Amino acid sequence: MGQAGRGRSEFEILGSGFIPPRTSRGCFDDPDAGGVEVGRDPPHLKPHWIEGGYRVRYAIVSDVHGNKEALDAVIERIGTLDCDEIICLGDIVGYGAEPGYCVERIREISKVVVAGNHDYAALGKINIDYFNAHARRATLWTREKLTPEQLQYLNDLPLVVNMGSFTVVHGSLESPELFDYIQTSYDAFLTMQKMQNSLCFIGHSHVPIAFLLKDVITFSLEPEVLLAGLAKVIVNVGSVGQPRDNNPLASFAVYDVKEARVDIHRIPYDIEKSAEKILEAGLPEFLAERLMVGR
Ligand SMILES: [Fe+2]
Repeated sequence: MGQAGRGRSEFEILGSGFIPPRTSRGCFDDPDAGGVEVGRDPPHLKPHWIEGGYRVRYAIVSDVHGNKEALDAVIERIGTLDCDEIICLGDIVGYGAEPGYCVERIREISKVVVAGNHDYAALGKINIDYFNAHARRATLWTREKLTPEQLQYLNDLPLVVNMGSFTVVHGSLESPELFDYIQTSYDAFLTMQKMQNSLCFIGHSHVPIAFLLKDVITFSLEPEVLLAGLAKVIVNVGSVGQPRDNNPLASFAVYDVKEARVDIHRIPYDIEKSAEKILEAGLPEFLAERLMVGR
């Protein structure tokens, strides 16, 4: 990608083409610069004062899919990365053997959470006829495992949250309730047209990838996304609990607002234990096997 975001001054970032957060403090979210779209108060941020200004670092997780071991490992790692907030992009449940635990844990650690299609499926809010047989079976199993309170929590999740300087959604902004995938430049174009700011975080495909608009839309599979010089960026943060890019390591992102960069982190977890639990629960064997290979 080649953009030199790290080490640049705020002025240089402003002049580089990437539209930074619209605020007098330069790198601090302003609730008035777009606000929160769907029924949520702006999160309470705990910025760090550092030389040269405030800094905010967001950890962004997605597609946990009831995988306790992966979620615990990711939370532990985030704890070492000096992050101020944890955001979750949905699909907390579905496929994995511990949906209730994952709902409770996300509820504890994250103030900003959007709904995924598997969360909606567990609620019966979408038709699961289009799911494959494994996903359907896991959905029906998950539905039985969640308490009324946990189902209510999922039911209350918004589809889109506009954080002011960036937006989060599970699938796409084109029609968030349809949970379309962003897999091509054209898909990315449709969402970029709907973006009220320069940066959007998504999940859903379980494949970490960034779509970048400068003069044209390109994509990057690099773990480091430097935002300076870009007009619009969509970052898929990958999946915590069921990666599908032939890499079984759990995936999540850290967005450093001041540095204008996003880093994709991949970390090991006890995959065998998660797989074993899936088998013990009587869920499809395929769901255990795919964790091993990341597909
Ligand atoms: Fe998912």
